[in-house]
Amino acid sequence: MSKVTAVLIGAGDRGARAYAPYALEYPHEFEIVAVADPNMERLEKIAIQHQLSVDQTFETWEDLLNGEKKADVAIICTLDRFHFKPTIAALKAGYHVLLEKPMSPDPAECIEMERVAREENRLLTICHVLRYTDFWSNIKKVIVDGQIGEVVSVQLNENVEVMHMSHSFVRGNWNNKEKSSPMILQKSCHDMDILSYIIDKPCLRVSSYGSLMHFNESNAPAGAPKRCLDGCPVEDTCIFHAGRYYLGEGKGWARKFTEDYTKEGIVHALQTTPYGKCVYQSDNNVVDHQVVNMEFEGGVTATFSMCGFTREQTRIVQIMGTKGEIRGNMENNSISIYNFLTKHETNIKFNTPIGGHGGGDIAIMKNFLQEVKNYTDGTSLSSATVSLRSHLMAFAAEESRLQNGKSIEIDEFYNEISPV
Ligand SMILES: NC(=O)c1ccc[n+]([C@@H]2O[C@H](COP(=O)([O-])OP(=O)(O)OC[C@H]3O[C@@H](n4cnc5c(N)ncnc54)[C@H](O)[C@@H]3O)[C@@H](O)[C@H]2O)c1
Repeated sequence: MSKVTAVLIGAGDRGARAYAPYALEYPHEFEIVAVADPNMERLEKIAIQHQLSVDQTFETWEDLLNGEKKADVAIICTLDRFHFKPTIAALKAGYHVLLEKPMSPDPAECIEMERVAREENRLLTICHVLRYTDFWSNIKKVIVDGQIGEVVSVQLNENVEVMHMSHSFVRGNWNNKEKSSPMILQKSCHDMDILSYIIDKPCLRVSSYGSLMHFNESNAPAGAPKRCLDGCPVEDTCIFHAGRYYLGEGKGWARKFTEDYTKEGIVHALQTTPYGKCVYQSDNNVVDHQVVNMEFEGGVTATFSMCGFTREQTRIVQIMGTKGEIRGNMENNSISIYNFLTKHETNIKFNTPIGGHGGGDIAIMKNFLQEVKNYTDGTSLSSATVSLRSHLMAFAAEESRLQNGKSIEIDEFYNEISPV
């Protein structure tokens, strides 16, 4: 196989901007041969970029997957609740699948997808892009090399960044768990996964607390209208005023809600889409902060804290081993390794990453294409099989949060939700 061909299902932010551009950058390795998206503006745009004819574009994934198999792989980038059906259909039609995370908001569907991939002998790789970054892959290597001895405990902080919180999880696509997924699954399945990856032992039990403490109606300023542009009395002092933000420093986010990036286009979108809503009067219900305690096999522990109220978007980690310690800040793309015996500290700064997620978006594509070319079985760095376990940690954490922090045993939880 000289180059891998793909169909793309969902030409939104992730499909069109994170993965499809790989075909334009490396046309000798990868080609998009068909796209499905009901959004006509997006479909036309991507068709021009990838020189697709009308019969290579489809309004829905059903239309695209109908008939003859069109490519080696299917890249599935629809929203969370629309992952399951196209994934099962693509696997059954013989495609290897690269699927956006989370696999599904329904644990039984995650179990089923993993099962079907094995049954059909196809790759089902989940876009846990962090595993592919210099930052996390080098941390993993330091641990595997034994440089800090046996891992005893890990602290991981996910700093969401306050405007990112308001954009994606208060106003945006992932603000409501009935429409997308609970925050711990939607945003932090990456973190459950990375903890699973670096600790490399099964997680046995979790407990969790968290709530939607700030972005709710009780904090709405007096007289604030439902939409910021309708004459809000606190326009100048509200951190989240949609007009000031999206016409100013948040202009880059406008791509999420309009194809017209002119000021008039953005204003129109703020008057008509959820992105113009007052953050205290949206239909959001996902938490704005959550903590999780975890115990892994052999007594290894981990604590995780996701919080929307931070100035930068980053992950900060401290990994404590019997012989030393690793500390790292993903935004700085640097880690330090400390040796308890020599008291020597090694500081490593990685090269500036190319592309999103610390270089993970491009690296996962490169890796996936290699895995497809050299396919023997379903093994992949972020296969559905490894991802299922970390998704279960997220589902169990949410269950615990809803039960006031009750400790949830992962194996028992799995048996309860597993389809018979
Ligand atoms: N890996 C990561 O770090 C990461 C980061 C952000 C988002 N995501 C995930 O990526 C997925 C997509 O997110 P996004 O930001 O690209 O969303 P998006 O809304 O920008 O894109 C989704 C696209 O799917 C299209 N679509 C809807 N129904 C369809 C159908 N029946 N057939 C084909 N296409 C259809 C929509 O029109 C839209 O263009 C989500 O599941 C999200 O959780 C992952």
